[in-house]
Amino acid sequence: MKLDTISTFLVMAAVSVVSALPLQNSALNPHATCPANILSCSLGADNVDSCCLPTYGLVVLSQQWYSGLGPREEFTMHGLWPDTCSGDQGPWNGCDPGRIYDDVEMRLQKYLQDDPGTSSAFFKNMTTYWSSYNDDNNKFWSHEWSKHGTCVSTIEPQCFSPKVPNKDVYTYFSSALALRSQHNIYQALAAKKIYPGSNPTVSSMQDAIEAQFGVKAEINCTCGVLSEIMLYFHVKNADQYEIIAPHSHGDCPDIISYPVKSGSLSPPPHCHKRTTPPTTTSPSGSIPSGRQTGPCTTTGAMVCVDPGISNQYSKCNQGLWVLNQCRSGLLCYSDTTTAAHCA
Ligand SMILES: *[C@@H]1O[C@H](CO)[C@@H](O)[C@H](O)[C@H]1NC(C)=O
Ligand SMILES: *[C@@H]1O[C@H](CO)[C@@H](O)[C@H](O)[C@H]1NC(C)=O
Repeated sequence: MKLDTISTFLVMAAVSVVSALPLQNSALNPHATCPANILSCSLGADNVDSCCLPTYGLVVLSQQWYSGLGPREEFTMHGLWPDTCSGDQGPWNGCDPGRIYDDVEMRLQKYLQDDPGTSSAFFKNMTTYWSSYNDDNNKFWSHEWSKHGTCVSTIEPQCFSPKVPNKDVYTYFSSALALRSQHNIYQALAAKKIYPGSNPTVSSMQDAIEAQFGVKAEINCTCGVLSEIMLYFHVKNADQYEIIAPHSHGDCPDIISYPVKSGSLSPPPHCHKRTTPPTTTSPSGSIPSGRQTGPCTTTGAMVCVDPGISNQYSKCNQGLWVLNQCRSGLLCYSDTTTAAHCA
């Protein structure tokens, strides 16, 4: 290494300690004219080429905590979401109809085969840290890509030279995983002795996150149980993320449950707020719950045997109640006295 290369390296290393770490697997942007160090959502960002700076300049890294999903001592990925600078989400159906895919798993595998520079550890990391709670990684990844990945302007195909099929998809997921591994929430909490199996205050969790990353996060719950932690970023130099204060502190109560991840997959807790009164047109009067037997009149009616606890439900099938079961890992939840669903 020549001396000037070394000193450039040292300067860059010093800069990256105080600002954003350059991401691994970064998109090598062919636009030589990218102005350096302009931050997305700052004054002047508007005039910068969309391959140099994301047009959706606020990026949210969302990591989730679900029992049975992923390693016991790791948060797993929900997504990396490009938002408008004021915090609004991109279009619900993504930003590029031509790149809406339903086969992202295959595209990633194909890309990894074609590019000898990629590591097989990447795919393992996808299945470990970005797994789906309903067991369909391809569907989960395809959704995240189509809705969010297509809105990342810096990885549009024309930003790569030469153009390589599916490099956009690969770059989206590899950058997101790299950002996740640089922002290990489990470790941030553990550093302040906040461990699963406890009931921490949200403010103690915020303090732990701030101690590690310099800013607070958006912490969300479902029925008082920790579900998701979101970190907010601006971007510079195409793919360097600078963490910023979150736009919201989340929706958790003051004291929450940070559950131990058990071995079995349990769905996010549901707390159904009844919006419609219990129906009075149930097949045989009002049916609270419990196993139903004998004749029934409303074909298709479903009743949980033990809502939220068991996966069994009774279903009215051609005039008779029959016992059914939600598929493995799911539980039965009652919506009304004669409608239930598995989650
Ligand atoms: C896989 O994940 C680990 C842990 O986050 C990380 O240290 C490693 O660099 C990742 N490897 C690849 C190829 O993404
Ligand atoms: C988190 O909670 C906020 C309310 O503070 C809500 O607006 C947001 O949609 C939630 N985010 C997720 C990912 O559920």
